[in-house]
Amino acid sequence: MSVNKLLVAGAGQMGAGIVQVSAVAGLDVVMIDVADEFIERGMAGIEKGLGRMVERGRMEGAARDAALARITTSTDMAVGAGADLFVEAAPEVVEIKAGLFARAAVILRDDAIIATNTSSLSVTKLAAFVTNPARFVGIHFFNPVPAMALVEVVKGSATSDETVAAARAYAETVGKTPITVSDSPGFVVNRILFPMINEAARAFAEGVAGAADIDTGMKLGTNWPMGPLALADLVGLDTTKAILETLERELGDASYRPAEILGELVAAGKSGRKSGAGFFDYSR
Ligand code: CAA
Repeated sequence: MSVNKLLVAGAGQMGAGIVQVSAVAGLDVVMIDVADEFIERGMAGIEKGLGRMVERGRMEGAARDAALARITTSTDMAVGAGADLFVEAAPEVVEIKAGLFARAAVILRDDAIIATNTSSLSVTKLAAFVTNPARFVGIHFFNPVPAMALVEVVKGSATSDETVAAARAYAETVGKTPITVSDSPGFVVNRILFPMINEAARAFAEGVAGAADIDTGMKLGTNWPMGPLALADLVGLDTTKAILETLERELGDASYRPAEILGELVAAGKSGRKSGAGFFDYSR
């Protein structure tokens, strides 16, 4: 089945990014969230992202306007009832996601695909909340969505080959390169990336070097586009900690335990860029 109409739950960094790239690719998109203020913030981010593309000569003003016109927003999921694909990009809380999947399964067509953008939860376990788990799949984007070329298509134990093929085709439609991965903690990228970020946090806490020097070291020493501590700030230190906790718990290996500095910064209200500070200060 080909995807022409999309329903996205969550107007945060990830949800808004998914909406942006899908609308640019010509899909009709409905973006929902629980409150108008979240939707307004998500739309402001999309307008800024598209404005940047126009400024850089990568998109015509008319194409930007057409993309924005393809986006509908609502706090009522029923507005997206005609969608071919539902992508959940809500907080990583099972109860919230379960409620969204249960509602989506009621309002969507029986053959519509139901996807999660989860970065840390089991796709197989989340599939238990829909009536037909063969149509349930992980579609994992990377942050910032418009700039990152990869999508991990995650096959749960009940996901059908047709659903995987449709998810891969959707990823290609929105300009991404899909890889198919099995439902294993952290999938491919986070499993490898987050232990490296954790090691950078530990090195910082031990005073091996200052935050700027650690990041400069990894940028210039390994050609990372940004340093691991700035990347943790971009992802969010709360999310970073949650991903490491999942790896530790699900893989049963204490070497993944989050560096204590992550919990300390989060407890101090420094969750990274979104809160104005993390390893670095973003208030100015
Ligand atoms: N909308 C549209 N385009 C955007 C955009 C947006 N919101 N954000 C960035 N871009 C585009 C820019 O227009 C630019 O494109 P061109 O070069 O074609 O003009 C390109 O992305 C690069 O952006 P910038 O020039 O502004 O900035 P930069 O060159 O310093 O790169 C970066 C910024 C893309 C964030 C880069 O530093 C980078 O790739 N960092 C690593 C990011 C990363 O590793 N992300 C994965 C995190 S892990 C994750 O997400 C998984 C998870 O589950 C938590």
